[in-house]
Amino acid sequence: MVSRVIPVEPFDLVIFGGTGDLARRKIFPGLYRRFLAGQMTADSRIIGAARAELSDDDFRATVAKAIAEFVSESRQDPAMIAEFLTRLHYVAIDATGAGGWAALKDLMREGVVRAFYFSVAPTLFGDIALRLSQHGVADAASRIVVEKPFGRDLASARALNATLALHFDETQIYRIDHYLGKETVQNLMAVRFANILFEPLWKAEYVDHVQITVAETVGVEGRGAYYDKSGAMRDMVQNHMMQLLCLIAMEPPYHFDPNAVRDEKLKVIRALDPVRPQDIVRGQYLAGGGQGAYTAHSENPHSTTESYIALRVHVSNWRWKGTPFYLRTGKRLRARASEIAITFKEPPHSIFDDAQGWRENVLVIRLQPDEGMHLKVMIKEPGPGGMRLMQVPLDMSFADALGDDHDDLPDAYERLIMDVIRGNQTLFMRGDEVEAAWAWTDPIIEGWTARGDKPQSYDPGTSGPEDALMLMHRDGRRWREIR
Ligand code: BG6
Repeated sequence: MVSRVIPVEPFDLVIFGGTGDLARRKIFPGLYRRFLAGQMTADSRIIGAARAELSDDDFRATVAKAIAEFVSESRQDPAMIAEFLTRLHYVAIDATGAGGWAALKDLMREGVVRAFYFSVAPTLFGDIALRLSQHGVADAASRIVVEKPFGRDLASARALNATLALHFDETQIYRIDHYLGKETVQNLMAVRFANILFEPLWKAEYVDHVQITVAETVGVEGRGAYYDKSGAMRDMVQNHMMQLLCLIAMEPPYHFDPNAVRDEKLKVIRALDPVRPQDIVRGQYLAGGGQGAYTAHSENPHSTTESYIALRVHVSNWRWKGTPFYLRTGKRLRARASEIAITFKEPPHSIFDDAQGWRENVLVIRLQPDEGMHLKVMIKEPGPGGMRLMQVPLDMSFADALGDDHDDLPDAYERLIMDVIRGNQTLFMRGDEVEAAWAWTDPIIEGWTARGDKPQSYDPGTSGPEDALMLMHRDGRRWREIR
């Protein structure tokens, strides 16, 4: 199976923060891979913009290093890399002053898509938006791409939306949540809305509960200062996990169209109940495995920020009344494993004596690693011995299904950047969605702050704090193993 690559329109893509970490690790390696795949036309250009005084050649050298470091060896083609580097330019820019803007304006061409990627600290978003419009660098058709974190609460997100709205229309603003660019996350919509099989069962009547897990083995080392002000709730739940929850819980949009999809997601966020204190478990990792504790990484020995959180969440609408959604995410856990598991209810009546062998049907959507889908169904145990039941998985591993093409799948960032150029906002968050997500998140954080709740310690390499197990045991359910 060969993936179809359709070149996008010619573009000038400006990366503010072009020498930063995200640009090095994700944006430039991703753009190079899209170039290699034939998705960039010959006249498309990428312009790095940052504070440092660099020549085009200096900048190209930093990008070449990033490609060498972050692109797999099998994709390192010296001739293609050299060709890709000729598309790169650099402008030294002062985001908070006047320096560099005239030069940037001179570089921009008419008649191509202009996109501006804000891969900078959120405090600079407003400054850059202002200068782009003040200096006439952006026009009414230009697009801006804004990284997370988009605010740290409802008030700051609203203020940021209002600032951007002074210079850009909502149709020009692409708020990135890279989880929406993941292959399996998009597959969630295909599974639900391109098949007749699941949708009739996709409701409280048939779904016992849903588990969403995003487990990481890495800690917060190196990002301690940012993370300590954020914690797992702001860093992962308000955005990535919320988006996963929306895609599972939303009603079918009338069309796969940016606003139709985002309208339905927004309704889910607005239908979320406040979360009760007993339905929240926060954790913080201890030292272990040769690594320091969270408090060593956060450079704050008394930090009460959570590196782990588990929540029991309810979507209060007709479809989901009574079906809990259990969310958990954490750092320094047993394995890197992200998945969504939808557990269906028991059949209303068993005709088999072998009730003991019975287990629930579960649909597991595996985000990473080993992307794929597994549907656990009951069958008869093969061979003689009467009607004994056993559970088997119907497996669909993307790596097996796609063979060599699997390595060609674009990663989340490269897919999303190409969507910006195509002008497709479906996989980007709308301003009202982000605000609704904060409106749900704020009281949860305010609640534990006011109560003075402290996170529970957990050992690295485990599945998190003990109390998180209780969150499900209490309901007669169990978390799936993290592996
Ligand atoms: C980022 C968070 O948005 O997502 C990180 O800030 C987290 O803390 C990362 O590690 C997880 O992304 P992925 O794609 O590796 O699952």
